[in-house]
Amino acid sequence: MTLAKRAGKCAEHIKKHHSALIVSHIDADGLTSAAIMGKALERAGIDYRIRFVKQLDMPLLTEIADENPELIVFTDLGSGMLDAISSLKLNAVVSDHHQPQGVHEYHLNPHLFGINGAIELSGSGAAFLIAQELGGNGDLAALAIVGAVGDLQHAKHGQLVGMNRSILEEGARNNVLGYEKDLMLFGRQTRPIFKLLQYSTDVYLPGLTGSEDASIEFLKKIGIRQHGEKWRRWIDLEPPEKQKIVSALIQSGLSSGLPGFKVERLIGEVYTLLCEREGTEVRDASEYATLLNSTARYDHADIGLAVCMGDREKCFDKACALLNEHRKNLVEGLNFVKEHGVTRMENLQYFDSGNKIRETIVGIVAGMSSSFVNNRELPIIAFADSDGGVKVSSRGNQDLIRKGLNLGEAISEAAKAVGGTGGGHDIAAGAFIPGESKSEFLKILDRKIGSQIR
Ligand code: C5P
Ligand code: C5P
Ligand code: ZN
Repeated sequence: MTLAKRAGKCAEHIKKHHSALIVSHIDADGLTSAAIMGKALERAGIDYRIRFVKQLDMPLLTEIADENPELIVFTDLGSGMLDAISSLKLNAVVSDHHQPQGVHEYHLNPHLFGINGAIELSGSGAAFLIAQELGGNGDLAALAIVGAVGDLQHAKHGQLVGMNRSILEEGARNNVLGYEKDLMLFGRQTRPIFKLLQYSTDVYLPGLTGSEDASIEFLKKIGIRQHGEKWRRWIDLEPPEKQKIVSALIQSGLSSGLPGFKVERLIGEVYTLLCEREGTEVRDASEYATLLNSTARYDHADIGLAVCMGDREKCFDKACALLNEHRKNLVEGLNFVKEHGVTRMENLQYFDSGNKIRETIVGIVAGMSSSFVNNRELPIIAFADSDGGVKVSSRGNQDLIRKGLNLGEAISEAAKAVGGTGGGHDIAAGAFIPGESKSEFLKILDRKIGSQIR
């Protein structure tokens, strides 16, 4: 069987029902997954409800089973709980891209077909494949790409590849998506240019990141003019001006010699949602994904979902307000890591944010901190307090994966060993473990990672 055939099989099963409960993950990929599935069901004349969850575990599955829905469609999660889903005899379709644990009949997952679920297909991409099989949903490719970019699937190659690329082309054919090489700094559509430099946390710009004055000075020095009192946005600049900024950034980054600076992270493919108004947060896939993360990761998934469903008024405005909070929290989280530093073990490094970083964003902070944490030879593990236990997040990099690192596997095993649950991807994974088991968990994880990369 091929991936497309499996998507077809899942779609056929869905079509036999009148109503479904969609269960999805509380991040940009999860929101777009649910929105794609919801729209596709609506167009197919099937009633649906959507429920967002932080993670899928046994108590939650039991609760869902008790509601006795006609059909459950899991999107962007479920592959880690296949045996439980089967043993509870849930009538379910699982559409996911996390590393699978167990088996289930109606299960769409790229890993089953030798396709990398961290790079080639996201949760929203998987949902899109089913939507296509349900019929004529090519316009939803735009949301699928927002989800893929939200999961950083374009990071490794500086562009989307594999199935993601096919979906991108489908979106281009449907006139909903455009793509080009450009500066990848956040805020190209909406922020005055100096803010792109000042808030550049994905790529650490030595001397500029974190400083408004230095960022403005930098632009003035290379001859970028203001319009009166106002700084223009990236999209307002002339091509030669853009070129000038890019060259200067590369030059100053390279001469700094800092390991966190990588030209590949500065320049790459960017994705434009052609049906959205220029200069808004939803015009650029990366800004759109961050906007969504600002809602769902703060218990406001309903707002993000409404935006995905087309709201450009009330909920959109609310989401934009939440975006400011989210950006602030990320900066504070990064400052926490800078101030407290990380602790090294033999095969990993970690920090414990206690209650200082929200558990739903600690993974993003851990990922971003690799731009200034000096040791790129070790994966980074992060802890955050959570209700009734501890949330674990982890992030690796491509060099480590080449050596054999598989965080999803390591985290899942280490979590199980201390009575928790976890999983994810080779490059990024997470878990929930009992509060008192942190040091035991670290010991096991350190050993496990050591055996992977040796
Ligand atoms: O739950 P989910 O699959 O949606 O999350 C994937 C996570 O993997 C994202 O948080 C994303 O930031 C992370 N990732 C990463 N580096 C990559 C690819 C993915 O940190 N190159
Ligand atoms: O929460 P965080 O962004 O660190 O999650 C990284 C990856 O690990 C995501 O793909 C997430 O879905 C997965 N994860 C998981 N089980 C958990 C926590 C996270 O599979 N308990
Ligand atoms: Zn995902």
